[in-house]
Amino acid sequence: MSFEKEILKRRTFGIISHPDAGKTTLTEKLLLFGGAIQEAGAVKNNKIKKSATSDFMEIERQRGISVATSVLAFLYKDKKINILDTPGHKDFAEDTFRTLTAVDSVIVVIDVAKGVEEQTEKLVEVCRMRNIPIIVFINKMDREGKDAFDLLDELEQKLGLIVTPLSFPIGMGYDFKGIYNIYEKNLNLFSGDSKKNIEDTIAFDDIESPELEKIIGTKAAESLRNDLELVHGVYPNFDKKRYLAGEQQPVFFGSALNNFGVRELLDCFVEIAPTPKPKMAEERLVKANEKDFTGFVFKIHANMDPKHRDRLAFVKVVSGTFERNKPYLHVRHNKNLKFSSPNAFFAEKKEIVDISYPGDIVGLHDTGSFKIGDTLTEGEILQYKGIPSFSPEHFRYINNADPMKAKQLNKGIDQLMDEGVAQLFTLEINNRKIIGTVGALQFEVIQYRLEHEYGAKCTYENFPVYKACWVDPKDKKSEEYMEFIRVKQKFLAKDKRGQLVFLADSFFSLQMTQQKYPSVKLHFTSEFN
Ligand code: G4P
Repeated sequence: MSFEKEILKRRTFGIISHPDAGKTTLTEKLLLFGGAIQEAGAVKNNKIKKSATSDFMEIERQRGISVATSVLAFLYKDKKINILDTPGHKDFAEDTFRTLTAVDSVIVVIDVAKGVEEQTEKLVEVCRMRNIPIIVFINKMDREGKDAFDLLDELEQKLGLIVTPLSFPIGMGYDFKGIYNIYEKNLNLFSGDSKKNIEDTIAFDDIESPELEKIIGTKAAESLRNDLELVHGVYPNFDKKRYLAGEQQPVFFGSALNNFGVRELLDCFVEIAPTPKPKMAEERLVKANEKDFTGFVFKIHANMDPKHRDRLAFVKVVSGTFERNKPYLHVRHNKNLKFSSPNAFFAEKKEIVDISYPGDIVGLHDTGSFKIGDTLTEGEILQYKGIPSFSPEHFRYINNADPMKAKQLNKGIDQLMDEGVAQLFTLEINNRKIIGTVGALQFEVIQYRLEHEYGAKCTYENFPVYKACWVDPKDKKSEEYMEFIRVKQKFLAKDKRGQLVFLADSFFSLQMTQQKYPSVKLHFTSEFN
């Protein structure tokens, strides 16, 4: 198959949701359609049920060892589909944000009863910042939930989406009768049989036909007709161009658990979802069909088995082909590297692969030369943009508890930060190290991993910070900036890339600082250029 055809075959996407909305269940059903797995329950649930530390450690360990669920690939209708795992738990939000830099589109899963939840809001905001095409799947229609129109309103108001329903439910919960597929103009009746792989659909071009009464009853037929009239009156028609530009979001309804409405979603997805998109580097825009290989590391998985210390760096192929045993330039190190056993992912297995195409994810064994954001090329000096850091929520001083192991501690901290487990800030005034995390539990994970993987011990000390703000002065030589540096010295630190960060101790002090030094912009993310 030609290179161009391979590119057109690929759909690389992420499923995002608030925990418990049904992401794992939907992923599993999609894999069933692809014939990639034989039975339900095969996809490992990386979810944290309790917030007990032991549970969390176990999950971390599993995530480290069983990297298989990080990328799930399968074939469907001759398309190669790559699903990238995006943890829903908020403590892994950074991981998800980074993964979103490697997807070409997303499916957002919403629980019909809960509607738009906190984590969904945050994740969709990141997608919208990047104009990532979004399809919404409203799940659990077999349960009582919110009215469909109210949910569509919520999507518009809370997520700022411009929705267009491509299917519409007939009843819900106990009265759930099925779904009318607006996109394909057919009816799909709900039987509640989760074992069914392919549902029978009834072609139904003319919704006014009296046949409808015969099939779903007078009351349901009348209400479906009214609903569809409202849908056509209120919502814009589906426009693929606008969807691809991130300006319009199609909505589907269904029940992942019952494998209902999933085929409609998948069929539409393979038809409309984008093929591998061009990506912006600092230097230029790189197109997928360029001959030379380029790619970037968006995720690093540690192998938490102390006997196997290597890590797996996940590289998204942006352009060209990635080939086994061919030398590639590690741009940051200006060094050529060859990979003898690159991994590709297929369903829940990983295997060595000779050639990978744009849109694919390759797993490279690494002993510490990669960090998140690194770019690989065939020689061109290129740095992909867009792996931002966000302000952590929790901050603590990290102290060495075993003076004999200072070297191990520093190495451990360095590598964990490269993996993106947390962020390190070094105070300008005294060089003390501060760790910032998204969730409080991560401090324990770091302590545990430093001890078990690096033989180093650490203790923490509270450091009250409200937000870390990346400093962006209008003029580095201005009086105002000099004064800011002098007065705020105690609160200034460098992040791992050497960027200056202001650690505001309260919302109030942040506001005051902004008012006092208006020409010094303070950002909650490291990506502001
Ligand atoms: P997540 O990955 O987004 O966190 O959600 P997950 O798929 O694990 O689903 C969360 C819970 O919701 C699971 O129940 C799952 O069975 C249920 N669920 C998913 N889709 C549907 C649906 O369409 N209808 C109904 N009624 N339930 C659905 P659980 O009891 O938490 O877990 P389990 O013990 O069933 O695995």
